Amino acid sequence: MRILGIESSCDDTAAAIVQDGLKLLSNQRFSSAAVQQRYGGVVPEVAAREHTLAVLPVVQSAMAEAGLTAQSVDAVAVTQGPGLMGALLVGVTFAKALGLCWHIPVVGVHHLEAHLYANALVEPIQFPNLALIVSGGHTTLVHWRGHADLVVLGNTRDDAAGEAFDKGARLLGLPYPGGPEIEALAQSANQTPSFSLPIARLGESLDFSFSGLKTAFDEWVHRHPTRQAEAALALETAVVTALVRNLARAHQQYPVAHVYLAGGVAANRRLSRQVREWGESAGVAVHIPPVDYCTDNGAMVAAAGFYRWQRGHVLAWDAGPKTPWPLADV
Ligand code: KG4
Ligand code: ZN
Repeated sequence: MRILGIESSCDDTAAAIVQDGLKLLSNQRFSSAAVQQRYGGVVPEVAAREHTLAVLPVVQSAMAEAGLTAQSVDAVAVTQGPGLMGALLVGVTFAKALGLCWHIPVVGVHHLEAHLYANALVEPIQFPNLALIVSGGHTTLVHWRGHADLVVLGNTRDDAAGEAFDKGARLLGLPYPGGPEIEALAQSANQTPSFSLPIARLGESLDFSFSGLKTAFDEWVHRHPTRQAEAALALETAVVTALVRNLARAHQQYPVAHVYLAGGVAANRRLSRQVREWGESAGVAVHIPPVDYCTDNGAMVAAAGFYRWQRGHVLAWDAGPKTPWPLADV
């Protein structure tokens, strides 16, 4: 079963072909980040326009890279939501048009479920597990018990982890996306910051909150404008500590043998190192996708689409993007 996966929920136009939910045959991506940098973040209308320009060449490149013709693709999977409405509309409309022309089914995929399935491109997922999805729009902790069987344990109450990095970077005058910039700057700092940023405690809840951290970061940076590397390190340390702390707390309630990371922030090396260190001490196998599968890509959409297709989910001809779309409803 060969599935063409299409992703267009934010600023990446991506397409990939995956066989049987596991074997990657091609993976192509166009990012409009360079265009978005002019505005300091993702402007929805700009993102949608960039998708309209990129979607056809990106899909053509994915087909060419895999050496496939239309006849050898069995289904199209597309991110149906959540995301930017205009951006999603481009991918969903394009996928439906392909489905009609090629007489193949179209499968609508949840973006966060797709992030989780980036891990399936490495090896089959081990259930039950705890999974942490950390992206520019979401910070979500789930108890993943099987395909189509997950319980959301915690969510961000305000900013997402990636958003904290992106906003922090903007305060330091660094370009979008901010996560890799903050990581690189933090690496150039002395390894122990002389101050720490507040990490929200939300009682017994496994939710996250990063807006107080952002405010404290903003104040500190204004008082110490020349100590940028130290500020970046303090920000990275605080975000990573908050993520690992909640993961460890969730594990006390759900003592599973496997933990998965997913989403763009999973590309952060301090996060992966600390989660691996915690995993070793807790006797938990930690799985983190390669960096290319962490940030938005078509392969994860194709992989998630394979399992959704197996469960009989096919888009109706009149279906459109779904946003908002809570992960719990998947
Ligand atoms: O999953 P993703 O590509 O898109 C969304 O679904 O949001 O995640 C993008 C987010 C951005 O906020 C970006 O700053 C962050 O992932 N990110 C990182 C790193 N690489 C990307 N954050 C921290 N460290 C990184 N190395
Ligand atoms: Zn994403």
